[in-house]
Parts: sequence; structure tokens; C-alpha cells
Amino acid sequence: MSEILTIADLKDLARRRVPKMFFDYADSGAWTESTYRANEEDFSKIKFRQRVLVDMSNRSLESTMIGEKVSMPVALAPTGLTGMQHADGEMLAAQAAEAFGVPFTLSTMSICSIEDVASVTKKPFWFQLYVLRDKDFVLNLIDRAKAAKCSALVLTLDLQILGQRHKDIRNGLSAPPKMTLANIVDLALKPRWCLGIAGTKRRTFRNIVGHAKGVGDVSSLSSWTTEQFDPQLSWKDVAWIKERWGGKLILKGILDKEDALMAAETGADAIVVSNHGGRQLDGAASSISVLEEIADAVGDRIEVHVDGGIRSGQDVLKALCLGAKGTYIGRPFLYGLGAMGKDGVTKALEIIRKEMDITLALCGKRLVTDMGKDQLRR
Ligand SMILES: Cc1cc2nc3c(=O)[nH]c(=O)nc-3n(C[C@H](O)[C@H](O)[C@H](O)COP(=O)(O)O)c2cc1C
Repeated sequence: MSEILTIADLKDLARRRVPKMFFDYADSGAWTESTYRANEEDFSKIKFRQRVLVDMSNRSLESTMIGEKVSMPVALAPTGLTGMQHADGEMLAAQAAEAFGVPFTLSTMSICSIEDVASVTKKPFWFQLYVLRDKDFVLNLIDRAKAAKCSALVLTLDLQILGQRHKDIRNGLSAPPKMTLANIVDLALKPRWCLGIAGTKRRTFRNIVGHAKGVGDVSSLSSWTTEQFDPQLSWKDVAWIKERWGGKLILKGILDKEDALMAAETGADAIVVSNHGGRQLDGAASSISVLEEIADAVGDRIEVHVDGGIRSGQDVLKALCLGAKGTYIGRPFLYGLGAMGKDGVTKALEIIRKEMDITLALCGKRLVTDMGKDQLRR
């Protein structure tokens, strides 16, 4: 592999190193994947104003997200099965994020548990909550995140039922993979991955197995997840979750300004403008195309974050210009992890940081916090 310069380079390497079912799990959207594609494509329609002969020295990408200092406003998004992209994936990604000075968000559907990640990090990470019908389990998860000193709860609102991703069905996605002939052939070509997984005890959903009623082993888990997501989740639930949690709360999965206004009413600390990386409602708008409208609607009532389709530092800056205070990356860090473990996650963050820094300068700005609408051509 020649030098890794872009997130696309990391993706190419991950494709060669990660078993097909897990690479496809990351690189997929719902149904026709039109929203997944639009998330990325719509960024390229936005253009910067190039400025010259301004002092470009002493630049800074530092900012804050929900009051926490960040070395750049780019958090790692919650992603399920991350420990299947690379052995102990969530622990490695959390360590890379911590060293870099950006937030890491652990998914409910992670392979490494809240306690696993807490055991290898020093700074608080964020925990993403799915609300399941088993409320005792949900309360227990909130309490476990508190005990692990997580500094924010990210409540995902856009997965009351699961969008259909064809690749996962065709690949028979499971963690760990079932020993079918196709999987055995594929795994034989991914020795590095196999060695890693053979060397860890973390191979299934450790936030859930052993904690939720009726889930003692993996075989019952896939039916449990499809049955367990709560289709009746409502704005009222946000209130009791907020109260039980008692800390910083981020509402993830807002794509409509009416919902954004409702979210602001809850007293949460931030919203994430997101369509779940195009994995839920295929045909929904790209995140970046609705960001400005939503940010304008809520004003300073609630902090606005965004994710979906960010593949470069330029994309991050465009999102900041359109009203986001913070951004998240999902697939870019997963590709880094699958390609090169912890170093790959660091590489993904370094690529984005460098692109942000150079772009900031060429736009004639020194502080990332100064990027606003006037920096775009419109
Ligand atoms: C493989 C994968 C798994 C995901 N799992 C979760 C999850 O468990 N919880 C959640 O709130 N969002 C999940 N998401 C959505 C991400 O948090 C985020 O919204 C999305 O990845 C952003 O788009 P990007 O991948 O283009 O950066 C997942 C996304 C991917 C790609």
C-alpha cells in the first residue's frame, strides 16, 4: 500500500483486512443507499471563499463540545460491533480519541462493554443509549454509564425500528461470525484479523450478554435485538431518562426542524443532526443539507452537532460554517480501525486535522471557531 493520505486510503486497506460481513456492515446504508450516498455527495456542492494576504500564523483548531474542551470539534460517533472491525476495537478507538483530545462515544451495541472501555481510559468518554422495551435493563445501563463516570449520555432517537440493510441479511451478519463455508473461506484470507480475535475474550455484545434478562448466550441475541428496540419511544421518555441520568444529555438523530424545536424544549444540552449515516430512512435528506435550516430554527436554545458523510477536514469546516458547534465521524474511524487498529484511528484523526488546518489557513482564518456562513460562497 502506498502512503495513506486520505480516509479513502484507509477504507481500501480495511476492505482487505476486515472480514467481508463486518466491512460491509460499516459500508452500507438502508435499501438503495441513496441517503448514504447523498450524505457524502452533498458536501462537495458547498464551496469555500478563498482569501489571500491575511495573517495565517498561529492557527488553532481547539473548541468545545457541550462545554468540554476538544482539540478539534470532531467526536467519534457511536457504532455497533466496533470490536468486530478489529479485536478490542472500542477500547483501542477510545484510547486513540483520548490521546488526541476528542470525545469517544461508546454504543449500546458495542462488543467491548462500558466497563472494558473504562478500564483502559483515564478521561471520561460518552455513552450512547438505545431505549429498549426492557426498562430495567435500560435503567441499569444508565447506572453503569454513571458508575463508569461517562461525561455525556447520547440518546439515539432514530432507531425505534431497524432500517433494512440488504448486505447484512445477505452476509448473515452475526458476532462472532458463524462458521459457514463462505465465512471460513473469507476468514482464511484475513489472518491478521483472526489472530486478533483469537487473542481476545471480547467477541460478542458485552453491554448486553449477562446483563439483560433472557440473554445468556449469543444464539438468542439477534432475535432479542429485533424484538427489543422500543417502537413506542416518545418525548415523554426523554424526561425520565434525563432525570435518571442527571448529567449532560445529547439527542441524536434529528433531521427535521420541528423535532429540533421539540428537542430544545427538553432541556437537553445538544442535538445531533443525523440520519444514522443513511442506515435508517433511505430517501431522507442528507444531514448537511438540513443543517443550516435546523441551526437557524433553534438558534442558541440548544447546541447543534452534525454527523453523516464527513470524510475530510474540509467537510468538518463546512459543517461548522453552516451552524454546527461539533461534528462526529463514524465510518472514517471504523476504516482506520479495521486497517491498522489503534494507529489507524489516530491516522484518521490526523488526516482530518491536517486537512482542517490547511483549509482554515487558505480560507484566511486562524481560529476554527471563527468559521461561519460568511466563509462560504453562496
Ligand atoms: C457500522 C455502523 C454502526 C453504527 N451503530 C450505531 C449505534 O450503535 N448507535 C448509534 O446511535 N448510531 C450508530 N451508527 C450511526 C453513527 O453513530 C453515525 O450517525 C454515522 O456513522 C455518521 O455517518 P458517517 O459514518 O458517514 O460518519 C452506526 C453507524 C455505522 C456506520
